[in-house]
This record gives sequence, C-alpha cells and structure tokens, in this order.
Amino acid sequence: MLPFEILARKRAGKCLTAEEIGEVVAGATDGSWSDAQLAAFLMAAAIHELEPSETRALTEGMLGSGERWKLDEEIPHLCDKHSTGGVGDKVSLVLAPLVASCGLPVVMLTGRGLGHTGGTADKLEAIPGLVMDFDRAQCLDMLRRLGVAIGVATADIAPADKSLYAIRDQTGTVESLPLITASILSKKLATGASSLVLDVKTGSGAFIPDLAQAERLATMMVTAANALGCHTSALLTDMSQPLGRWVGHSAEVLEALETLRGEGPEDLEAVTFALSTEVARLEGVDLDRDALKAALLSGSAYEKFMQWALAQGAQRDWVDSPALPLAPEEASLTAPRSGFLAAVDTRRVGFLLVEAGGGRAKPGAEIDMGVALRYDVRLGDPIDAGQSLGRLYLRRADDGLARRFVDCFEVVDEEVSPPPLIGKRIVDKG
Ligand code: URA
Repeated sequence: MLPFEILARKRAGKCLTAEEIGEVVAGATDGSWSDAQLAAFLMAAAIHELEPSETRALTEGMLGSGERWKLDEEIPHLCDKHSTGGVGDKVSLVLAPLVASCGLPVVMLTGRGLGHTGGTADKLEAIPGLVMDFDRAQCLDMLRRLGVAIGVATADIAPADKSLYAIRDQTGTVESLPLITASILSKKLATGASSLVLDVKTGSGAFIPDLAQAERLATMMVTAANALGCHTSALLTDMSQPLGRWVGHSAEVLEALETLRGEGPEDLEAVTFALSTEVARLEGVDLDRDALKAALLSGSAYEKFMQWALAQGAQRDWVDSPALPLAPEEASLTAPRSGFLAAVDTRRVGFLLVEAGGGRAKPGAEIDMGVALRYDVRLGDPIDAGQSLGRLYLRRADDGLARRFVDCFEVVDEEVSPPPLIGKRIVDKG
C-alpha cells in the first residue's frame, strides 16, 4: 500500500492493520516516508486516537526498529520501573538499588529531562565521574556482578521513536496518549525486562495532569506492554506538589541517598515502597514494607547504590564522602498571607527551575546541577504569613524569579484536603 492510501484510511478514522502500521514505522526508520507523511500520520493518530491493536502494532514496530537486548534470557526476574515524569521525582534513584539489595535484579534505561521535569540520567550525572552510557555487554556485566544497571537508551534502540518524536514535538502531537504509549514502551521494552512497573503521575506537575486521562494512559501502557510479553502494571501517583523536600539535580541525588539510609521524606519513601512491592509482585515475589525498610536501615540498599555508582565510574572519594555543592545564592520564599496551602503550580515550579539553569531549555543545553528548590510545606498545611514556603539555591541572585516562585503557591482561607499520594493500581485485564 502507498503511504497516501494508509494516511487516507487513518484520516477517515479507520483502524489500520498491523501491516499498515508496520509500513509507517519502516518509513520512519529508513527515511522512505517524508516528514510531511509522518506528520500527517501522527496528526491523524492524535485526532482519532489508536485502537489497542494499532497501539500494540506501533509499539512492536518501533521496538523492532532497533536493538533488542533480551536480557531476561540471561537474567531471570529482571525488573524495571518507569515514571511518566514529575518534579522532584527521584524514585528511580532509590528504587533500583533498594529492590536489587532485596535480591531482584533491576535494569533501567532512563531518559533525559523533558520540559519541566528532570531526568534520572541527568540527575545521576551530578555524581563526579559517573557514566550513564553503556551497551548490552556492559549492562549484562553490571547485572551479573551487582544486580543493578542504570543507563540511557543507546542511539540503536528504537530509532523510529527518535524520528517520530522529533516530528511530534513540532506538530502538537506530543500529548497523544497512544503515541506516548508507543514511544515510552518502544524504549522500555528494548532491554527485555521480565516485569515493568509504571508510575503514572497526575496533578499539576504531571505531563497528563487530569486524573481520568492519566488513568487512560496507564491502561493503554499496561495493555500494550502485557500484549508484548512484559508483565506490567501501573500505579497512579500524585504530582500536585514536588515529591520529597528537594528539586534540582544535585539536591535530588543527596535526598535519594538520605532515603537510602532510611532518613528520607515520608512521601518519597511511600511511593518508592509501593512501586517496589508492585514490581516484585509482578515477579511473584512478596516484598513488603518491612523487608524494604529493613534493607534501608541495614545499609544494604545504600551500599548497593555506592557499589553501582563505583562500577559506573563514580570517583572513589565521592563514594567515601558523597557531598555535592548547591548553587550559592540563597533566597527564601515566604508566605504572603496566612491560611491553608491549597495548590502548588508544580509545572510552573519546574519551568522556573529550568529558567534558573537547573534544567534544559533546549536539547543538549548544559544543566546547572547546583540550582535547587527546598520545598518546606505540604498541601493542606496551615500557613502563617511570613513563614517559609521554601528556599531557592541560584547561581545569580534574582528577586524577580524568587517572587514568581512564591506566586506558584496558593494559600486560601478554608481548610483543604490534599489528594491521595498513591491512587489506583492498574492491572492487565487481558
Ligand atoms: N517520554 C517519551 O519517551 N515519549 C513520550 O512520548 C513522552 C515521554
């Protein structure tokens, strides 16, 4: 079939066959479809959505467009976790060594920062010497020696996603749920992990803030991943405020280490535990809160992180004394009025940090690892005028920027109850 015939069928809202979707993916991979044709497909898919069979075919095609590591053939019970992205979300940094220290191997090919959210790979690169690029052989070696490997997807993984994502970015089709599903899973499933838990964020700091839409995304991803042979479930978790007490690359690494010592903030620990238990359950292993807490308090999870960091190039003196400097210009964010903390514009908080240099405004830009926000309150808290809402760590003093951070906090007269931190669990119905 010619591209325009496939496009005409999708434009008319028809369900494409796996072969037709395969043509699109081949066209994106070998360049035989023009950007105009790919853009037309993406727009039609975004408008009409995709049927589950189409989403599955698109995911499978994109997955097959590049390397597949099939690590589960050599490492049984291999687990993975993915987050749809949030502000202050450092769960992966804690979960990977924690679950590995409990005996389940963990592989993660993680992403770079996207929009207002930071990426796990970027955060970990705040550690002096640490290298996030590895190939299959190096990844396998890490898994055999330590039971944990965290890296970034190589250029050979899902090349079709790279072409399609660049066009989505220019055509207003990034937010399409089936396109997000295929994009994320084509990279995630490339390692061949046996189980995958998805942390699908909702609320003001999430890519998909609306709860019903986030649930649809979770369902689509769970359905497609299971159909392709990876045991997958999802938890909907709240991103109406930053997760934990810190946002910013170096600060989040330090907070993750604190959490690995059993001294982390309650919300971060709760989300990490819930996702750890969930991924273990997918492998048929009972890993409850007590076991996870014991791995933190015994030091074994912390030690696993440091063994991993050393093996991936971290400097020995950093491992022995893991400090990271924050940016020097501090500014306190004080509450302009009394009341109750009703809302935080968490997406805006993320973008303001990007503006301050603590994230990438465009691909390839340098990140100032020391830029950070300490978040001192929680939704629902009673607030006194003049009390600290948080503290900024900037490279250059900027009162205007600090005021715009304060504007992200909404304080009202009436008491408010925050949304639940951990919402629905989405499992495969197939
Ligand atoms: N992350 C991805 O890799 N792809 C998307 O479409 C959205 C987030």
